Amino acid sequence: MNDKKQLSAWKKFLNSMTKAHDLDSEDEILTDHDYDGIKELDNVLPPWWLYGFYITIAIGIFYYVQVFTNAEEYSQEKEYAAEVEEGKKEVEAYKAANPDLFNTDNIELLTDAASLNKGKELFATKTCTACHLADLGGSIGPNLTDDKWVLGGGMKNIFNTVSKGGRPGKGMIAWEGTLSVEERQLLSSYIISMQGTSPANPKAEEGDIIWTK
Ligand code: HEC
Repeated sequence: MNDKKQLSAWKKFLNSMTKAHDLDSEDEILTDHDYDGIKELDNVLPPWWLYGFYITIAIGIFYYVQVFTNAEEYSQEKEYAAEVEEGKKEVEAYKAANPDLFNTDNIELLTDAASLNKGKELFATKTCTACHLADLGGSIGPNLTDDKWVLGGGMKNIFNTVSKGGRPGKGMIAWEGTLSVEERQLLSSYIISMQGTSPANPKAEEGDIIWTK
């Protein structure tokens, strides 16, 4: 019915967005540029393109204002930190919802320097050094650098000992109540990394289980 009218309205809109020059009167906008017979028309910039360009300018100004004058509230660094924070929370929530995610069976030995350094730090701050000494040579607790083990060597056994403790009455408590899975993993990895080192005053070997890494 009024298809024609609609079409012409649409066409009008298209024309207003392109501002294309009529083919018949191209002469009016012909420049004197002539490249081997190829000539150039001096068309206006199509409005649809120009509007897109204006939008990018507006976004650019908005962004500039946000980043350079509103850095208190917004900065890439803060945005990054907030996302990392959120990610950590999600990981913690996931771990809390899946308590069996890490257990003695699937605990992994860490060997990277950063983890071993953290393990070393924990060994000192969580009072392990009081009974095993800082060089792991042993005093109240056994020497942890030799290849004789009371409760078994290797990641699984050591993680298990640190988590569940030693034989009753010996003084090695179960740490799973006070140390997180990660902390026990870092400590166990650190202990393994120290095997074979030479402490200043090594305590005599204890235990019948022989294990070397
Ligand atoms: C109060 C003293 C004491 C503290 C503190 C202590 N331990 Fe022990 N640890 C012992 C004793 C004693 C044993 C031997 C247990 C046994 O004979 O059953 C032992 C055994 C171990 C073993 C097993 C050694 C083997 O030969 O099988 C590991 C591994 C260990 N401790 C790691 C740690 C870590 C890690 C910490 C710190 C989070 C720690 N210990 C803190 C006293 C201690």
